[in-house]
Amino acid sequence: TPLTSHIFFIFGASGDLAKKKIYPTLWWLYRDGFLPERIRFIGYARSQITIATIFEHAAKYMKVENHERETFQKFVELNSYCVGHYDVEKDFQHLNDEANRLSKQESAHRLFYLALPPNVYESVTELISKHCRPKPPGWIRLIVEKPFGKDLQSSNKLSEHLSKCYVEEEIYRIDHYLGKEMVQNIIVLRFANHILSRVWNRDSIAAVIIIFKEDIGTQGRGGYFDQFGIIRDVIQNHLMQILSIVAMEKPRSTKGEDIRDEKVKLLRCISPVKPEDVVIGQYIGDKDSGDVEHQQGYLDDKTVPDNSTTPTYAQLILNINNERWAGVPFILRAGKALNEKKAEIRIQFRDAPGAMFDEDIRENDPNGRLARDELVMRVQPNEAIYLKLNTKRPGEMGFIIEETELDLTYGDRYQGVKLPDAYERLILDVFMGSKINFVRSDELQEAWRIVDPILELVDQKKLPLIPYKFGVFGIPEAFEAAAKHGYIFRG
Ligand code: BG6
Repeated sequence: TPLTSHIFFIFGASGDLAKKKIYPTLWWLYRDGFLPERIRFIGYARSQITIATIFEHAAKYMKVENHERETFQKFVELNSYCVGHYDVEKDFQHLNDEANRLSKQESAHRLFYLALPPNVYESVTELISKHCRPKPPGWIRLIVEKPFGKDLQSSNKLSEHLSKCYVEEEIYRIDHYLGKEMVQNIIVLRFANHILSRVWNRDSIAAVIIIFKEDIGTQGRGGYFDQFGIIRDVIQNHLMQILSIVAMEKPRSTKGEDIRDEKVKLLRCISPVKPEDVVIGQYIGDKDSGDVEHQQGYLDDKTVPDNSTTPTYAQLILNINNERWAGVPFILRAGKALNEKKAEIRIQFRDAPGAMFDEDIRENDPNGRLARDELVMRVQPNEAIYLKLNTKRPGEMGFIIEETELDLTYGDRYQGVKLPDAYERLILDVFMGSKINFVRSDELQEAWRIVDPILELVDQKKLPLIPYKFGVFGIPEAFEAAAKHGYIFRG
């Protein structure tokens, strides 16, 4: 048999993330011919199960078509599973022996995906480095999933620990939002279009809002979620990453380090969030709803402690203290158990100056003001970019003004183009050694610094927690705060 060139290890192979995302992604990449030919996959976890059980559980998410059966069988044969503890030296030695035995190649490149709870991170990363490094010239790459710590201090501690065992080039901190098509498109939209780059600043922009909504509750993940809450789960990472790309200065090139340098510089200009700029909430069951899931509040989740005050909704308003953005509110809003699943970025422009149209009919605006232009990038679902503009209502006499959209909906414009899943792109990036879409340790540190004081207040229950019913559009207090800072909501 030919020598193996790469070994991909899945730590936490029996877990939720492995089943839902990692195994399916590896299968799709294999099926589509993106992976190196001489690869092997080794799962590792504590459960006494077999690789067959793992595939049984993952089957639902892998979506194997009938005509793919043969290829899938080949993929399955490249997989194996190893039982072990996360803190026992000899288990890691055994894993290393297994890897060498299976691959017949001690210098095969090794990729480790850590889909693990945070409490085992330190021991696992240390023991991998100690016992499972390949012989040169083989390289090692470690893919770490969030949470990277719980706050600034624990995150710094973890970073320090990792830097003792690995050089930064070996560490890939995954934030799967960076693998989404529309998030990757922000850089192109901003810097390849002169028409936009000229207005991308405080002179033209009134407010920016980045929104994450989900129409599901904790769905059995309450045990994990309750220790973190929505700010750590979504805002500190996904939304802050989007913000840094939306607001950064133009990088020198598309190289990973140039882009990451600019993201960090931007984050450094943001002061920690102030308590008065925060709204938090927790969902309660809607007893009148016909949907059984909606009848369940956060506290009804059996894995959530009865008296939990963990927020499932939060809005933070940030200021970026630099030449380009001073005074423009950046609103980060995220919530679970709302009316829809959606993620979008809205750039709201300033009012058109002058009173020229004041006498004209504007049916859509109760305040009798022209609607503001707004550029919307919809990250999901149905990727789209649209620009809301005022136009003369066609066919009417005189100036009846209404809002319309210049609309680039991907499903229409790029019919038949398959957009790969975020994990597919990111795992492939790791094989290629591309760091553009991974979070550097200094970025991580800055992102924690910004939310840290608020997390402390939330944990100490010092901020009012607003209850909201499962399935609502949002929390009125959050909309009011956004409006006070100058974001005019128009639906
Ligand atoms: C994860 C969060 O990072 O992102 C989850 O931990 C959340 O709570 C998920 O549901 C959302 O990801 P996506 O790709 O479905 O928007």
